Amino acid sequence: MCGIIAYKGPKDAIEIVLKGLQQLEYRGYDSWGIGVKTQAGLDVFKKTGQIGKVNRSDIHLPESTIAIGHTRWATHGGVTETNAHPHQSPNKDIVVVHNGIVENFEELALHLSTPRVSETDTEIIAHLISQNMQQGFAHAVRETAKKLQGKSGFVAINKDTDEIAAVRSGSPLIVGIGENEYFIASDVTAFLQHTKKVMYLDNNEMVVINDAPHFYDADGKEVQKRIVDIDWEAGTSEKGDHAHYLIKEIMDQKHTIMAATNQDEEKLKRVADEIRNAYGTFLVGCGTAGKVCQTSEYFFSSIAHKHINAVVGSEFSNYHHYLTDKTLMIPVSQSGETMDVLDAMEIAKKKGVKIISLINVVGSTMMRESDDYFNVNAGVEKAVVSTKATTAQLSVLYLLAHAVAGTLQEGKSQLMNTASAVTDMLNPRYDARIRDLAQLLKGREDVIIIGRGANYPIALEAAIKLMEASYVHAQGFAGGELKHGPIALIEPGTPVIVLVNNDENKEATISNAKEVQSRGGVIIGVAPENNPAFSHWIKVPDVGDAAPIVNIIPMQMLAYHLAVLRGIDPDKPRNLAKSVTVK
Ligand code: AGP
Repeated sequence: MCGIIAYKGPKDAIEIVLKGLQQLEYRGYDSWGIGVKTQAGLDVFKKTGQIGKVNRSDIHLPESTIAIGHTRWATHGGVTETNAHPHQSPNKDIVVVHNGIVENFEELALHLSTPRVSETDTEIIAHLISQNMQQGFAHAVRETAKKLQGKSGFVAINKDTDEIAAVRSGSPLIVGIGENEYFIASDVTAFLQHTKKVMYLDNNEMVVINDAPHFYDADGKEVQKRIVDIDWEAGTSEKGDHAHYLIKEIMDQKHTIMAATNQDEEKLKRVADEIRNAYGTFLVGCGTAGKVCQTSEYFFSSIAHKHINAVVGSEFSNYHHYLTDKTLMIPVSQSGETMDVLDAMEIAKKKGVKIISLINVVGSTMMRESDDYFNVNAGVEKAVVSTKATTAQLSVLYLLAHAVAGTLQEGKSQLMNTASAVTDMLNPRYDARIRDLAQLLKGREDVIIIGRGANYPIALEAAIKLMEASYVHAQGFAGGELKHGPIALIEPGTPVIVLVNNDENKEATISNAKEVQSRGGVIIGVAPENNPAFSHWIKVPDVGDAAPIVNIIPMQMLAYHLAVLRGIDPDKPRNLAKSVTVK
């Protein structure tokens, strides 16, 4: 949450920071700001609202070669220009941008010589650095960092030197190395068009960029770092001819399921052995990634007859009693920065648990904190509403379940069939069909989604899609649970989406659909074949036990079209951010 970018180099720093913030906007978009260092001192420019369409000429700041910028997802204090970052010290000798939370900011504020002007926890950082400048800027930044509690990361500039300093204490910051130019950002996408060479700042480390970046540990000892090449194409993060990132990324699934299939078979078999031998395996994720974990629990059960525990990241601490050095943890995360999952990993590590994660962002904290990892290869996912990363994660876990079952080749060929079936499915006619259905649901405030087996967590995931993209209240249920309460919600016209495949759950799911139908509910069936119980039918290819991977796709499309028809920006739903880096 919150995006940070800093630049030092020969080019127009404001232009570079502006473009970087536009790339980072998915991390928070309620306000933004840029701070610069010029001959005359420090200056800041801040605005509420999204930075999306702002031009260089809209930013009234003097030219500079040193700038820092921030796009905000509010934690402390409302969405106002005063609360937007950067924040300044009272005598304007320090400017700071920050991601995360300073938990003890109220206590620290008691010792300030000048009261804060904003309601934020961040402002305290600028005050403290300014108060500690006697031994220089770098020293003041380090001493300030020592006083802060909670997980965060900040970048600061000062009036007297041409240095940029940054400290990472739990929130990601990556240093980009260009030709005589340097970047610091929360995420490589902010500077990918300028350089693919990065240096990672580890937790509790500080970097000071003057002639070059110098890294220090928490005691101030200089540490050596490697330059790492990132193999992400900037182009994959552009939306091209599509109206929104969300639909572009849905359509990317024509290729990304195949790309996810491309895993090292030896590693899959090795990890399959780890799963077989572990005294308990935990799949851990949040939100959509959590639903991927739940769906995969069914994959492992039905394909490999192996019980795996799916746990929501924020609940993992309640399972610590079961952890030993023979436990295996598989965290699943698109961003690799979700705080609840990183916290769960910390708990697991303390118990000696082995961690093999599923990541999509190369170089993310999760990747670097894991013993081993699978890259799901979905490419840059920008829309807050996760789509292609979801099916890529499902694909890798499906392969892993087959590897545990000893049927990896069978799983791989089934997955390749699934990938080509999805490529065929994602055609303009199919899109138009879903748009028509969205038209039908446009005015509804409630939608119920049901499924059995692996389609149950897919129903839960479909509900997340509809809620976050289109603000329609949607709720997923296990088909068999309807009669235990939720069926009371059904009245004439209530839309109920029924996910059904040609498997052992088919008959029972259709019965549930008929129970709804006889109470006046309008059934939208998502299935390989039509059924008299359906008022509307969304056809999906029959891909056997890989069905959850295709079933979620028309739901993603429905969420997209509903958002557009309801006049909502599908890429930036209210109150959300792509990377949830706070608790
Ligand atoms: C996805 O559509 C959601 N916006 C959200 O639930 C997301 O999946 C969750 O925050 C986890 O993110 P991660 O995959 O980056 O860890």
